Amino acid sequence: MGVLCLKVRREEAEVAHELLKGMGLLNLAFEPARDGASVFFPLTRRPGPGELTAMKGSLSCFEIVEVELRPREARPSLQELLSRSLPPRLVEEAPRSFDVIGDIAIVEIQPELWPYRHEVGSAIMALQKHVRLVLAKGGPVSGPFRLRRLVPIAGYGPTETTHREHGCIFKLDVARAYFSPRLSYEHARVAGQARPGELVVDMFAGVGPFSIIMAKREPSVLAYAIDANPIAFHYLAMNVRANKLRGSVVPVLSDARRAIQKALRGLADRVIMDLPERAHEFLDAACLAIRPSGGHLHFYTFAGAPEPEKEAVERLKAGVEAAGRSVEAVLLARKVRPIGPYKWQVAVDAIIS
Ligand SMILES: C[S@@+](CC[C@H](N)C(=O)[O-])C[C@H]1O[C@@H](n2cnc3c(N)ncnc32)[C@H](O)[C@@H]1O
Repeated sequence: MGVLCLKVRREEAEVAHELLKGMGLLNLAFEPARDGASVFFPLTRRPGPGELTAMKGSLSCFEIVEVELRPREARPSLQELLSRSLPPRLVEEAPRSFDVIGDIAIVEIQPELWPYRHEVGSAIMALQKHVRLVLAKGGPVSGPFRLRRLVPIAGYGPTETTHREHGCIFKLDVARAYFSPRLSYEHARVAGQARPGELVVDMFAGVGPFSIIMAKREPSVLAYAIDANPIAFHYLAMNVRANKLRGSVVPVLSDARRAIQKALRGLADRVIMDLPERAHEFLDAACLAIRPSGGHLHFYTFAGAPEPEKEAVERLKAGVEAAGRSVEAVLLARKVRPIGPYKWQVAVDAIIS
């Protein structure tokens, strides 16, 4: 019996790999395989209709097939590796995962494990040979620019790195500009929806992932990528050049509301609002940017149990109606990731009229 696989073109292997990781569809028990111009990625299950739509948006062609694949060589997990150096009573507290941005790993360490932070850092470097520097989270994401304190625990060198996502290059300083590899799937999902010739306003663009991935896929879009953090803007402008998208993505250093009021009223076919803790406060500005004839809105917010998706949709509707517009249709509401007990980041895609 073969293994269920996604077959893609070799040039699109990196994009497919990121997508499958983001959707939890990549089966790590098997090695991907190559055959001529195709790459086969093992799947954990058959993709659902929404996932197939996201794939159609991001890949020019693909097939779901069954193929014989080699089982992956078992590598120890981070916890298994740490069980060799931590006191037994602390092994359960050891981190199970970490984020990798370029050649930098970022990990959350429980307070009781802090005296062993260098062991954690070394174990991560042993597991991921390309990681040069390991940083521990020194607090929650906070402040207007959505940054957190990061403490070096292993490795060497600056906090600037170059990350690749969906075939695009992102240079950034992980300590001075927001970026999360956990949003990789959202970046591709939203980017895949842009239609030729659209004008897009990316209100909280950071170092540019939504706009840049979108314009790379659909070069006829014109995206205004706005961020208020001068450091994020510096990397955003650099990334627009590095991805050869001058003319398709316009970096704007500004408060999003001010930029819209000044120059982007009634022009947008699509608005992206990726500032979950405060996006609802800017719905008036988003509505001002959207064409009088209507447009798409991608709204991110934090919402809690029992029905986070419903709470997110209600918050969106309240803000849009207060701005004198209406939500014609909700196309999707999905939990993006947990952010605490019974609390999630939620994405809502809607048509505003
Ligand atoms: C959660 S991050 C999202 C970054 C990016 N969309 C991504 O996917 O990586 C939010 C960004 O909004 C920016 N920001 C916060 N308040 C802003 C405002 N009033 N106007 C424009 N940008 C703002 C922050 O500097 C930060 O880079």
